[in-house]
Amino acid sequence: MKIGIVVYSQTGNTLSVATKLKEKLAAAGHSVALEQVKLVGERKSGSREFQLGSLPDVTPYDVLVIGAAVEAFSLSAVMTKCLGEIGSLEKKSVVCLITQAFPFAWLGGNRAALQMRKLCESKGAAVRGAAVVNWMGKGLDRRIANGVERLSKLVSG
Ligand SMILES: Cc1cc2nc3c(=O)[nH]c(=O)nc-3n(C[C@H](O)[C@H](O)[C@H](O)COP(=O)(O)O)c2cc1C
Repeated sequence: MKIGIVVYSQTGNTLSVATKLKEKLAAAGHSVALEQVKLVGERKSGSREFQLGSLPDVTPYDVLVIGAAVEAFSLSAVMTKCLGEIGSLEKKSVVCLITQAFPFAWLGGNRAALQMRKLCESKGAAVRGAAVVNWMGKGLDRRIANGVERLSKLVSG
Protein backbone atom coordinates (compact mmCIF):
# COMPACT_ATOMS: atom_id res chain seq x y z
CA MET A 1 0.00 0.00 0.00
CA LYS A 2 1.46 3.34 -1.09
CA ILE A 3 0.46 6.31 1.03
CA GLY A 4 0.65 9.93 -0.09
CA ILE A 5 0.22 12.84 2.30
CA VAL A 6 -0.69 16.03 0.42
CA VAL A 7 -0.86 19.24 2.43
CA TYR A 8 -1.26 22.93 2.00
CA SER A 9 0.16 24.69 5.05
CA GLN A 10 0.59 28.43 5.10
CA THR A 11 2.10 28.80 8.58
CA GLY A 12 3.37 25.27 9.21
CA ASN A 13 0.73 23.88 11.60
CA THR A 14 -0.84 21.37 9.22
CA LEU A 15 2.60 20.46 7.91
CA SER A 16 3.84 19.69 11.43
CA VAL A 17 0.96 17.23 12.01
CA ALA A 18 1.51 15.70 8.58
CA THR A 19 5.22 15.25 9.31
CA LYS A 20 4.48 13.43 12.58
CA LEU A 21 1.97 11.21 10.77
CA LYS A 22 4.54 10.41 8.09
CA GLU A 23 7.07 9.41 10.77
CA LYS A 24 4.53 7.18 12.52
CA LEU A 25 3.42 5.44 9.31
CA ALA A 26 6.99 4.98 8.12
CA ALA A 27 7.98 3.51 11.51
CA ALA A 28 5.12 1.00 11.06
CA GLY A 29 6.70 -0.10 7.76
CA HIS A 30 4.49 1.78 5.29
CA SER A 31 5.73 3.40 2.11
CA VAL A 32 4.80 7.05 2.60
CA ALA A 33 5.55 10.31 0.80
CA LEU A 34 4.73 13.84 1.92
CA GLU A 35 4.01 16.43 -0.75
CA GLN A 36 3.15 20.09 -0.30
CA VAL A 37 0.81 22.12 -2.45
CA LYS A 38 2.83 25.15 -3.52
CA LEU A 39 1.87 28.52 -4.90
CA VAL A 40 3.52 30.61 -7.56
CA GLY A 41 4.46 33.91 -5.94
CA GLU A 42 3.10 35.44 -2.74
CA ARG A 43 -0.39 35.12 -1.30
CA LYS A 44 -1.78 37.69 1.12
CA SER A 45 -3.06 35.79 4.18
CA GLY A 46 -6.53 34.40 3.47
CA SER A 47 -6.66 35.93 0.00
CA ARG A 48 -8.56 34.23 -2.81
CA GLU A 49 -6.10 35.72 -5.28
CA PHE A 50 -3.30 33.22 -5.83
CA GLN A 51 -1.84 30.94 -8.44
CA LEU A 52 -1.34 27.25 -7.76
CA GLY A 53 2.04 25.79 -8.63
CA SER A 54 2.25 22.41 -10.32
CA LEU A 55 -0.04 20.03 -8.46
CA PRO A 56 1.24 16.89 -6.73
CA ASP A 57 0.93 13.75 -8.84
CA VAL A 58 -1.34 11.49 -6.79
CA THR A 59 -1.49 8.61 -9.28
CA PRO A 60 1.07 6.40 -7.43
CA TYR A 61 -0.86 6.35 -4.14
CA ASP A 62 -3.53 3.93 -2.92
CA VAL A 63 -4.35 5.98 0.17
CA LEU A 64 -4.15 9.75 0.36
CA VAL A 65 -4.11 11.90 3.46
CA ILE A 66 -5.13 15.40 2.48
CA GLY A 67 -4.37 18.19 4.91
CA ALA A 68 -5.26 21.88 5.10
CA ALA A 69 -6.39 24.61 7.47
CA VAL A 70 -9.69 26.28 8.21
CA GLU A 71 -9.91 29.77 6.74
CA ALA A 72 -12.93 31.92 7.62
CA PHE A 73 -14.96 28.90 8.85
CA SER A 74 -14.33 27.07 5.57
CA LEU A 75 -11.75 24.85 3.93
CA SER A 76 -8.67 26.81 2.83
CA ALA A 77 -9.33 28.37 -0.57
CA VAL A 78 -6.01 26.98 -1.79
CA MET A 79 -6.95 23.38 -0.98
CA THR A 80 -10.44 23.92 -2.41
CA LYS A 81 -8.91 25.02 -5.71
CA CYS A 82 -6.30 22.27 -5.60
CA LEU A 83 -8.94 19.55 -5.14
CA GLY A 84 -10.97 21.06 -7.95
CA GLU A 85 -8.04 20.71 -10.32
CA ILE A 86 -6.29 17.60 -9.07
CA GLY A 87 -7.81 15.07 -11.47
CA SER A 88 -9.45 11.74 -10.77
CA LEU A 89 -9.32 10.13 -7.33
CA GLU A 90 -11.10 6.97 -8.54
CA LYS A 91 -10.08 3.85 -6.60
CA LYS A 92 -8.31 5.91 -3.96
CA SER A 93 -9.09 6.03 -0.28
CA VAL A 94 -8.82 9.44 1.34
CA VAL A 95 -8.33 10.51 4.94
CA CYS A 96 -8.80 14.19 5.79
CA LEU A 97 -6.65 16.28 8.12
CA ILE A 98 -7.88 19.71 9.15
CA THR A 99 -6.19 22.16 11.52
CA GLN A 100 -7.82 25.22 12.96
CA ALA A 101 -7.04 27.87 15.59
CA PHE A 102 -10.29 27.82 17.52
CA PRO A 103 -10.67 25.18 20.22
CA PHE A 104 -13.86 23.56 18.93
CA ALA A 105 -14.36 21.64 15.69
CA TRP A 106 -17.81 23.18 15.27
CA LEU A 107 -16.11 26.58 14.75
CA GLY A 108 -15.12 25.70 11.19
CA GLY A 109 -13.23 22.42 11.45
CA ASN A 110 -16.20 20.13 10.88
CA ARG A 111 -17.42 22.27 8.00
CA ALA A 112 -13.98 22.29 6.36
CA ALA A 113 -13.72 18.50 6.77
CA LEU A 114 -17.13 18.07 5.14
CA GLN A 115 -16.16 20.37 2.26
CA MET A 116 -12.97 18.36 1.75
CA ARG A 117 -14.93 15.09 1.86
CA LYS A 118 -17.40 16.28 -0.77
CA LEU A 119 -14.69 17.55 -3.10
CA CYS A 120 -12.81 14.24 -2.83
CA GLU A 121 -15.97 12.19 -3.32
CA SER A 122 -16.83 14.26 -6.39
CA LYS A 123 -13.48 13.08 -7.82
CA GLY A 124 -14.37 9.46 -7.11
CA ALA A 125 -12.54 8.88 -3.82
CA ALA A 126 -13.79 6.76 -0.94
CA VAL A 127 -13.38 8.99 2.11
CA ARG A 128 -12.63 7.05 5.30
CA GLY A 129 -12.90 9.87 7.81
CA ALA A 130 -11.23 12.98 9.21
CA ALA A 131 -9.31 14.36 12.14
CA VAL A 132 -9.57 17.99 13.21
CA VAL A 133 -6.68 19.33 15.29
CA ASN A 134 -7.52 22.46 17.28
CA TRP A 135 -4.51 24.65 17.88
CA MET A 136 -5.48 27.14 20.63
CA GLY A 137 -5.26 26.35 24.31
CA LYS A 138 -3.32 24.09 26.64
CA GLY A 139 -2.59 20.49 25.69
CA LEU A 140 -1.71 21.02 22.03
CA ASP A 141 0.88 18.22 22.03
CA ARG A 142 -1.74 15.76 23.28
CA ARG A 143 -4.28 16.92 20.67
CA ILE A 144 -1.68 16.53 17.93
CA ALA A 145 -0.79 13.05 19.20
CA ASN A 146 -4.48 12.09 19.29
CA GLY A 147 -4.97 13.44 15.76
CA VAL A 148 -1.97 11.52 14.45
CA GLU A 149 -3.24 8.36 16.16
CA ARG A 150 -6.69 8.73 14.61
CA LEU A 151 -5.30 9.46 11.15
CA SER A 152 -2.92 6.54 11.34
CA LYS A 153 -5.78 4.16 12.27
CA LEU A 154 -7.91 5.50 9.40
CA VAL A 155 -4.99 5.07 6.97
CA SER A 156 -4.31 1.52 8.14
CA GLY A 157 -7.98 0.75 7.44
C1 LIG B 1 -7.12 34.01 6.80
C2 LIG B 1 -7.26 33.02 7.92
C3 LIG B 1 -8.53 32.67 8.36
C4 LIG B 1 -8.69 31.76 9.41
N1 LIG B 1 -9.94 31.42 9.82
C5 LIG B 1 -10.09 30.54 10.85
C6 LIG B 1 -11.39 30.13 11.29
O1 LIG B 1 -12.42 30.54 10.75
N2 LIG B 1 -11.48 29.27 12.32
C7 LIG B 1 -10.37 28.76 12.96
O2 LIG B 1 -10.51 27.97 13.89
N3 LIG B 1 -9.12 29.10 12.55
C8 LIG B 1 -8.95 29.96 11.51
N4 LIG B 1 -7.70 30.31 11.08
C9 LIG B 1 -6.53 29.73 11.74
C10 LIG B 1 -5.94 28.54 10.98
O3 LIG B 1 -6.95 27.62 10.57
C11 LIG B 1 -4.95 27.77 11.86
O4 LIG B 1 -3.97 28.64 12.37
C12 LIG B 1 -4.31 26.63 11.09
O5 LIG B 1 -3.76 25.71 12.01
C13 LIG B 1 -3.23 27.12 10.15
O6 LIG B 1 -2.69 26.02 9.48
P1 LIG B 1 -1.36 26.14 8.60
O7 LIG B 1 -0.26 26.65 9.49
O8 LIG B 1 -1.08 24.76 8.15
O9 LIG B 1 -1.63 27.09 7.48
C14 LIG B 1 -7.53 31.20 10.04
C15 LIG B 1 -6.27 31.57 9.58
C16 LIG B 1 -6.12 32.45 8.54
C17 LIG B 1 -4.74 32.83 8.06
